[in-house]
Amino acid sequence: MKFVSAAKLEDLKPGTCLSVELDGERGVALFHVNGEILAMDNTCPHAGGPLGEGTLNGDVVTCPWHGWEFNVRTGQCLKNPVPAWAVPCYPTRVEHGVIHVAFPLEPV
Ligand code: FES
Repeated sequence: MKFVSAAKLEDLKPGTCLSVELDGERGVALFHVNGEILAMDNTCPHAGGPLGEGTLNGDVVTCPWHGWEFNVRTGQCLKNPVPAWAVPCYPTRVEHGVIHVAFPLEPV
């Protein structure tokens, strides 16, 4: 599995999230939860809102457009916890202060 750099760790403060693009291809949302870096698709399955620009509370992100909530560890939608509304999650790792995401993007 290949990993590509996505952001500097210093740009993702604990308890926050961030939208990035990998290789100009797909948008990815990054989350910093209790020292753990998590990644999932940036596109909300409801209407395409940017999840990385939402509000992070613990391990739940609230979409900035209409307020749907997703668990950032599992991608599960709290309102409709069915696979069709889940957001794909991607492996991450941090090396030398840089966040990397597995690429090409394949859900875990
Ligand atoms: S686009 Fe995310 S809740 Fe509607």
